[in-house]
Amino acid sequence: MTVFTHAQDLIKTLREVTEEGIGMLNAEKTAETLAAINRRTTLRPRVGIILGSGLGGVAEAVENSVAIPYEEIPYWPRTTAIGHAGRLVIGTLEGVSVAVMQGRVHFYEGYTMDEITFPVRIFGEMGIGSLIATNAAGGVNLTYSPGDLAVIKDHINFMGTNPLIGTNNNKWGPRFPDMTYAYDQEYIQVLMSVGEEEGVSLRKGVYIAFSGPSYETPAEIRMSRALGADLVGMSTVPEVIVANHMGMRVAAISCVSNYAAGVREQKLHHQEVIDAMAEAAESMTAVIRGFLRKIARDAGSY
Ligand code: HPA
Repeated sequence: MTVFTHAQDLIKTLREVTEEGIGMLNAEKTAETLAAINRRTTLRPRVGIILGSGLGGVAEAVENSVAIPYEEIPYWPRTTAIGHAGRLVIGTLEGVSVAVMQGRVHFYEGYTMDEITFPVRIFGEMGIGSLIATNAAGGVNLTYSPGDLAVIKDHINFMGTNPLIGTNNNKWGPRFPDMTYAYDQEYIQVLMSVGEEEGVSLRKGVYIAFSGPSYETPAEIRMSRALGADLVGMSTVPEVIVANHMGMRVAAISCVSNYAAGVREQKLHHQEVIDAMAEAAESMTAVIRGFLRKIARDAGSY
């Protein structure tokens, strides 16, 4: 009898914990987060930007900005990775109202997929219709070198999970969202033309995401190359899937921070990733600014 009661209590507690977990993304919490952001600014951003390792400098270019530390935003995940500042910067860039995440969280930090993609859900709820994601990536393609920028044209989700697993919130998007154009075709073209105009050479490639945090082995990189990947990283794919789920148009740019494992006879170090990103930050900023300028001209398209 006692055992039975205990078992029932345990089931009840487990159910509550699970519902609380799912509830992380419930409407009430989303509303609380939105209210906290809206208390800090009257601006209603149209474009969301996620800055990867070492690319925080783009946020410095934002005008009339308010910077909100992640700790001050309810339920917003805190960055623990080196090279990530942890602020949401809202303002204008090239006349376009933007919300810039200076720093993101990763699966390898121990966050759940729901937590990682919570900011993108908030972007969607804020009415943001376009997302620009950036990251640091290893060069899998043998013609890529550190310092190169590459527009992501497609991805391979090799993280072993998917941020849409679980109950589907039909208000956010469909159960089985299409991923044929996960990276907006027009945005890819806009980015390529911006590269030409700005004198920044841009490559176009497929990004494969692993969970990390260990870097890949040379065998895993050879496999990635055989599968058609040009770039390898530990981020972006969850956010891009969720942005597509919510019907956003997505543009994504990688900065090649290092040769992927086994491409050169040398070990990989996180510091070289940080250094390469610092060098590429200026070109990345120029590309993002050029992109915003172009889409601002055609305001109806975003
Ligand atoms: N592998 C995975 N993630 C990365 C790499 C890499 O080589 N470089 C930067 N992020």
